[in-house]
Amino acid sequence: MRSFRYFLPTTNLIFGKGTLKYIGVEAKKLGKKALLVTGKKSMEKLGFLKKAVESMEKEGLEVVHYGEVEPNPTVDIVNEGAEKSIDNRCDVIVGLGGGSAIDTAKNIAVVSGHSEGEKISIWEFAEVHDVPRQITSKTLPVIAITSTSGTGSHVSRFAVVTNQQKKQKIGILSPFICPKVSIVDVDILSYMSPSLTAQTGFDTMTHVMESFVSRLANPITDFYCLKAMELVFNYLPRAYSNGDDTEAREFMALADTYGGWALNTSRIVLPHALSHPISAFYPEIAHGVALAALTPEIMRFNIEKGNEETVSKYCQIAKAGGIKVNSFTKEEALKSVEVIEELLKKIKLNVTLKGLGVKKDKIEGMTESAFTAMKGPIEANPVPVIREDILNLYSRSM
Ligand code: NZQ
Ligand code: MN
Repeated sequence: MRSFRYFLPTTNLIFGKGTLKYIGVEAKKLGKKALLVTGKKSMEKLGFLKKAVESMEKEGLEVVHYGEVEPNPTVDIVNEGAEKSIDNRCDVIVGLGGGSAIDTAKNIAVVSGHSEGEKISIWEFAEVHDVPRQITSKTLPVIAITSTSGTGSHVSRFAVVTNQQKKQKIGILSPFICPKVSIVDVDILSYMSPSLTAQTGFDTMTHVMESFVSRLANPITDFYCLKAMELVFNYLPRAYSNGDDTEAREFMALADTYGGWALNTSRIVLPHALSHPISAFYPEIAHGVALAALTPEIMRFNIEKGNEETVSKYCQIAKAGGIKVNSFTKEEALKSVEVIEELLKKIKLNVTLKGLGVKKDKIEGMTESAFTAMKGPIEANPVPVIREDILNLYSRSM
């Protein structure tokens, strides 16, 4: 066996129906004044914002609400939230929502913890600089309550943020932003619409497929990835067609959690590297939808150029999808693309970049952005890629 590294997160995971009520007791262990970070509508409309505030106030915490997060959150949204946290002297940051709210909470925790009276920006910590500002233990503690399944953000050491001026969407990476407590309450997840279920569920699928074929994959992440792929193949179509199917929701939430644990170490690879520039140029295209447009062509590319080990991994993906694989050949590995395309059809995500409104004249810019902002995932791809490959993959996904 090759030697490997595995990042073991120190998150206290609280999983199951009705678990939102524990937020007060848990937050009290970490601070006295919480900044509660949410998106603009869903959590308030569905009553979960009120429940979270009440639970924390009951335990004697003061709560300040920052509810300005938008999907594909920007540097400005993070910095504005951090200002609110600093002005109010908050000492614990709670993210309630999808990946966008949780990532923003993590990034606010970084900025507030390091500002020390100065005005600083989350962008200073981005690994696009030659010498990025270091993220240290001064980062405020984060609690995540996830409302999607999902990004894995509730158990990951990554937080995504977009710089709209520079057209770069990056992942801030640090063990200090890994949530101290993570609540996965199926009552919240059951409100996802079919389309949100599909796009977030497919995001999970890509996390575990990409972490599985990644150069940084190891026996521990492989274990989570294979199990999570089986769960997504079985339960995503069910959760999509019946949002009240609690069993399907629970298993999708579990797959999402396994995905976060896997990508913490193995990273994501080419589909994510190419999808981030799409969000940077077209913030209205949801993360999971961009991935759906890109994934099949990238799978074909990795199989065609992949070595024996990579080809065998794609064969195992096909097997996880219930397909009989006779030998570990490239031909058999292509069955994994078929089974993914079938899944995408079932959840109505069989989309193309062109269909999503992506214009050909942006391909050059998106390719530049991928090489600047997504170096890590490009390097983790099992097949080495050059600029030409990325241009071609965008074109073929049109
Ligand atoms: O904004 P509100 O009003 O809350 O509504 C949201 C938003 O409009 C709504 N929503 C969320 N939970 C809901 C709900 N509506 C009804 N019922 C619920 N239970 O859904 C919309 C999308 O929410 P968002 O948080 O943007 O979705 P998602 O969870 O897919 O997060 C996407 C973000 O996470 C990043 C993505 O890049 C993107 O910015 N990612 C984070 C990762 C990480 N930290 O490790 C890894 C991922 O690869 C991903 O990049
Ligand atoms: Mn993702």
